[in-house]
Amino acid sequence: MSELVSMRTDGDVAVITIDNPPVNAMKYEVRVGLLDLVSRATGDTAISAIAIACAGRTFVAGADITEFGKPPRQPTGVAVIEAMEASPKPIIAAMHGTPLGGGLELALGCHFRVAAPGTRLGLPEIKLGIIPGAGGTQRLPRLVGMDKGMTMILSGEPIPAREALDAGLIDEIVEGDLVAGAIAFARRVVAEKRPLVLARNREDKLAAARGDLAAFDAAAANYTKRARGQNAPVAAVEALRAAITLPVADALKRERELFLELVAGDQSKAQRHIFFAEREAAKVPDIAGVKAHDVKRAAVIGAGTMGGGIAMCFANAGIPVTVVDTGAEALARGLDVVTRNYRNTAARGGLAADEMEARLGRIAGTTDLAAVADADIVIEAVFEDMGVKQEVFGRLDRIVKPGAVIASNTSYLDIDAIARSTARPQAVVGMHFFSPANVMRLLEVVRGAATSPETLATAIAVGRRLGKVPAVVGVSHGFVGNRMLRLRSVEAERLLLEGALPQDVDGALTGFGFPMGPFAMSDLAGLDVGWRMRKAQGLTAPIADQLCERGRYGQKTARGFYLYEPGTRTPKSDPEVEQLIVDTAAQRGIARGALGKDEIVERLLFPMINEGARVLREGIARRPGDIDVIWVYGYGFPVHRGGPMHYADSVGLAHIRDRLAAFAHKTGDDRHHPSLLLEELAAAGKGFASLGT
Ligand code: CAA
Repeated sequence: MSELVSMRTDGDVAVITIDNPPVNAMKYEVRVGLLDLVSRATGDTAISAIAIACAGRTFVAGADITEFGKPPRQPTGVAVIEAMEASPKPIIAAMHGTPLGGGLELALGCHFRVAAPGTRLGLPEIKLGIIPGAGGTQRLPRLVGMDKGMTMILSGEPIPAREALDAGLIDEIVEGDLVAGAIAFARRVVAEKRPLVLARNREDKLAAARGDLAAFDAAAANYTKRARGQNAPVAAVEALRAAITLPVADALKRERELFLELVAGDQSKAQRHIFFAEREAAKVPDIAGVKAHDVKRAAVIGAGTMGGGIAMCFANAGIPVTVVDTGAEALARGLDVVTRNYRNTAARGGLAADEMEARLGRIAGTTDLAAVADADIVIEAVFEDMGVKQEVFGRLDRIVKPGAVIASNTSYLDIDAIARSTARPQAVVGMHFFSPANVMRLLEVVRGAATSPETLATAIAVGRRLGKVPAVVGVSHGFVGNRMLRLRSVEAERLLLEGALPQDVDGALTGFGFPMGPFAMSDLAGLDVGWRMRKAQGLTAPIADQLCERGRYGQKTARGFYLYEPGTRTPKSDPEVEQLIVDTAAQRGIARGALGKDEIVERLLFPMINEGARVLREGIARRPGDIDVIWVYGYGFPVHRGGPMHYADSVGLAHIRDRLAAFAHKTGDDRHHPSLLLEELAAAGKGFASLGT
C-alpha cells in the first residue's frame, strides 16, 4: 500500500516499520500504510503481537505540520489510533529519538510502550499554537497523572525516558537493540497473557484531580495567566478539565473540536510560520554544503555581563572556554557573577550539583591574552567602541591560531571595519548574542564583506551547538534587530510628548502580547546604557536623557521611567516623571492629547515594519521570515502573531502604507514615509510572504 510503512514477521510477532525521513512525520501516506498493516496483522492468525517502530533518527515526531491548514484526508491520526486500540492483539510502541505530538499520541494508543535510553517524549503542540488533537490530552494524564500531564502539555517540554518510566508513561527501557527488545517484550506479554491496557480506560491516576477541582483550576491558572492572549493554553486547560469532568468519549470529542478550531486559526498559522522560518533562517544558499570547522575550545574576550553569559553558553554545551579580561578585578568580578548564576539555578532545582560543577569546571579565566592561542573560536565582547574593538582584533590577529574564527559580539558596529584591523578579514564574523546571553535564543550571525564561507558555516554551527537560533544578517548599523528597534524607541518617546505616559505605551505593547514594554525594558537594562550609546552616536532621547541627567538609571537606582519600591521589580508610575514629560512637551510646544491603545501599537510597530522592508530591500536580511525569527527570539515579539513581517501581512500592507504616510505627515519624520518595497507590495495587493523563502 505505502512505501513508507513496511511489515516483517519475527516468529509470531509482526514488526511494522515507518520510514519517512527525516523525522517520520505522520503524513497521509504513513497513516494509510499504518492502518492497512495494523489491520492485516490483526487479521493474520499466525500473528500474536505487533510492534511498531521507526527507521532513522526518531520515532514519529508528530503529525506532518505542512498538512495543517489543508483539507484533512482520511484516515486521520485519530482513526489509526482507534484501530490500534481496537486490536485484540497487543500492540507495542518501540520508541527512540523524539516521539512528539501525534507520534507520542500514536504510542499512547498502543497497549504497551518501550523506549531506548536516550528517548525524549513530549506533546509540544502548544508551541505550534494548537493542542494535541489525537487523544493526547486524555490519554497522557491517565497514564502519568494530572499534575505531570498538565506540565507536559502546557509547557510543551519533552521528558527523558527515565522520567517517563518512573511516571508510568512507558513500560520499559530497552538497552541494546530496540526492536529485538520490543519483540521480546511482546512475547512476554503474550506468554503471561497480560491484559491489554487501553490508556483511555485507565481512571486510577485521575482520581486525585477529580477529587479537587479547585486545585486543578489553581494549577491551570498558573499557565493561563501567562498566556498573554494565546488561545492554545486556554484550550489545553479546557481539554484537560474535560478529562476529569466528562466521560472519556465526550472529552475526546471536545479535544478534537478545540484542536480543529485552533489549527484553522491565525495564531497557529503564525506559530507554524515561525517553526519553519526558524529552520530557514540559518540556511544560506551560497554556502550550502560548506563544512564548518571543528570547534573544541573557545575563548571569550571580556568578562562583563555579555562575556560571562556567552562563556556560560559554551560551558553548558560542553565546550571548554577561557574568559580573558585584562583587568584582574573585572575578571574576578565577572567569574564571580557566572558562579553565582549557576548556584542560583542549582538552588532553584534547575541544575544538579554535579552538572553545575562540571559546567563551572569548563570555564577558565585569565588576564593573559596569549591564552587564546589554542581556541578554535574567539568571541570578543569588550566595550562597544570601534577604537577599542579594532585594537583588540589587531592584538588577537597576532595570537589566534590559523583557521580559527574570530567573532565580535558587537550589537551595532561595522564588522567590515573591525575585520580590517586584522590581516585575515575572512576569519572575522559577527556573533551578536542577546542579553542575558545564556538565556536568550537568538544569535544574529553577521556576514561581513570578506567573511569566508567556512567562517560563516562555523559561526552558524557553533550557534546551533549552543542551542541558539542563528539568523544570518548583513552589515548595517544595528544589523536587523537593533536597527528596527531604534525606530520603535524614537517613537515611544515621541508618544510620551504627544500625550501618553510610560504605562500607557508599555500597557499597549503588553496587551499586544510582548512580555514587556519599551520603558520597563529600558529600566531593566539600565537607562545609562542607551544614554552612553546615544551620546557616542550624537543621538538624543528627550525624556530618557533627562532622566539620566537626574541619575535615574532604572531598576539599579530604583528610579527610571518608573519608581521601584526597595527590593521589588514592579514598576510604579511616578508623578515626577509625568511632570517632566508634561514640561518637556510644553517647552517644545507640543499639545498633549489622549492616545488610544490601538494607535499606540500602530505607531510603535508600523515604523519598525517599514524599516524591516528597507532591511529586506537592501539585502541585510534575506527573507521576511528571518526578521520575524529575530524579533520573536530576540525581542519578545509575541510568537502567536508570527513576528513583525508576518503580522504586517495579516494586517494588510495597504493599511500600513496609509498609516505610515499619515504618521510622516504628523511627526515630520522622514523615516515614516512608506519604503519602496512596502509601496510596491501594497500597490500590487501582495504581502511580504509573496517574496518567498
Ligand atoms: N512535520 C513536518 N516537518 C517536520 C516536522 C513535522 N512534525 N518536524 C520536523 N520537520 C522537518 C523540519 O522542518 C526540518 O525540515 P528541513 O530540513 O527542510 O528544514 C526537518 O524536519 C528536520 O527538523 P529539525 O531541523 O528540527 O531537526 P532536529 O533534529 O533539530 O529536531 C525534532 C527534530 C525534535 C523532531 C524537531 O524537528 C521538532 O521539534 N519537530 C516538531 C515536533 C512537533 O511539534 N510535533 C508535533 C506536531 S503537531 C501534532 O502532532 C498535532 C497532533 O496532535 C495531531
